[in-house]
Amino acid sequence: MATELAIKGGPRIVPDGMVKGWPPITQQDRDALLAVLDSGHLHGTSAPQALALQKEWAEYCGAKHCLVTNSGTSAIHMALAAARVEPGDEVIVPAFTYWSTAAAVLHQNAIPIFVDIDPRTFTMAPDLVEAAITDRTRALLPVDIHGMPCDYDPIMEIARRRGLVVIADACQSHGASYKGKRTGSIAHATAFSTNRSKNLSSGEGGLYTTDNDEYYEVASRMREFGEVVLPDQTREYNAFSLGWMYRSLEWTNAFCRSQLTRLEQYNAARREFAEYLTEQLAGIPGFDGPYTPPGVVPAYFSYIVRFRPEQAGLDAPMDRFKRAMIAALRAEGVNLGQWQTRPVPGQDVFQKRVGYGKGCPWTCRWGREATYRGEDYPRTIEFIANHSYLAGVYPPNTMELMKLYIEGFKKVADNAKKVLDAAS
Ligand SMILES: Cc1ncc(COP(=O)(O)O)c(C=O)c1O
Repeated sequence: MATELAIKGGPRIVPDGMVKGWPPITQQDRDALLAVLDSGHLHGTSAPQALALQKEWAEYCGAKHCLVTNSGTSAIHMALAAARVEPGDEVIVPAFTYWSTAAAVLHQNAIPIFVDIDPRTFTMAPDLVEAAITDRTRALLPVDIHGMPCDYDPIMEIARRRGLVVIADACQSHGASYKGKRTGSIAHATAFSTNRSKNLSSGEGGLYTTDNDEYYEVASRMREFGEVVLPDQTREYNAFSLGWMYRSLEWTNAFCRSQLTRLEQYNAARREFAEYLTEQLAGIPGFDGPYTPPGVVPAYFSYIVRFRPEQAGLDAPMDRFKRAMIAALRAEGVNLGQWQTRPVPGQDVFQKRVGYGKGCPWTCRWGREATYRGEDYPRTIEFIANHSYLAGVYPPNTMELMKLYIEGFKKVADNAKKVLDAAS
């Protein structure tokens, strides 16, 4: 192994151009997509690709019903509306998520109430949920962040006891399982995103699952202007309530179905890579991989790396250590990046409460002027401060790349003091 660091002009470990992007696209995907153009069906909730995808995804998850939609955000919104979350109702959301989880609550004129995360899995902490429940709470909205299923047993138990609905944001956890059950079949309703980056990708899109017949019917009307559209496309042109245009496209559905035939294979590769990296990082001072609780099989949507200056024997503040290590690793071709920069309630939309204008939904008749303080979520702040995301931990990348990544981590760790000095 070359000993000179790449930041000092030495050769990099991972050759330029070696890391491939996601998702892998095959001839099967191309054929599936092009066949739609000749099929005579380009869209529609009863079009053949939409119906087939819904059936296949429901079967894969072990859910009774599935609806395909045009984004993960719309799938969460459909789930909230179908569960009869109404203006001013409160929905409990983790402070660490992509903010669209909470945006969907605002779209329903409801109020997001944030709780902090579990310090090991980084999903919503069940022990903090109970204290956040008020007489206005209608739903819990946990998130399977990084592809890690949240701790569903205590969350479902709290919901049962307090008469609440659980809507899972599984936008990052396709194919993950919790105590033998796949996400999509655990909560009362579940939303998936199939945007470009996701384990199951259609480019842009979403999937909604539930076992509840009534939720399914309301969600399907919501997806199409609040109307009832029969399978033969007959319409009464009568909206039963407010609805949206959340339909998907047939070539998107066909592409998604084709990708779905390889989801298991792709997830198996992600797990193999992630487990290898975690095992190896445990022996490299300064870095750690993620923790996985027993009974849980994550989908490894993202691979997170924790920075440990104290393990490296360096008395450096976290931000300085992390910045210096990332710069040195990137120079070696080990690309680490930041995903979020603050707890969601610390974002301007919550700080300034700029929903629909005029203070709505917080100051509308049924609302409550909840206050949002980013500093109230110390575990989220700590997670963001001491973690980073490693790119390319998915196929078509191979074990060869993971081995080079580990070489890169070792090289930087062996020279940690030099890296820190170079940074300052
Ligand atoms: C956790 C989480 N929730 C919701 C979403 C929203 O999904 P979409 O971008 O498909 O609307 C995403 C997508 O990035 C996500 O990662």
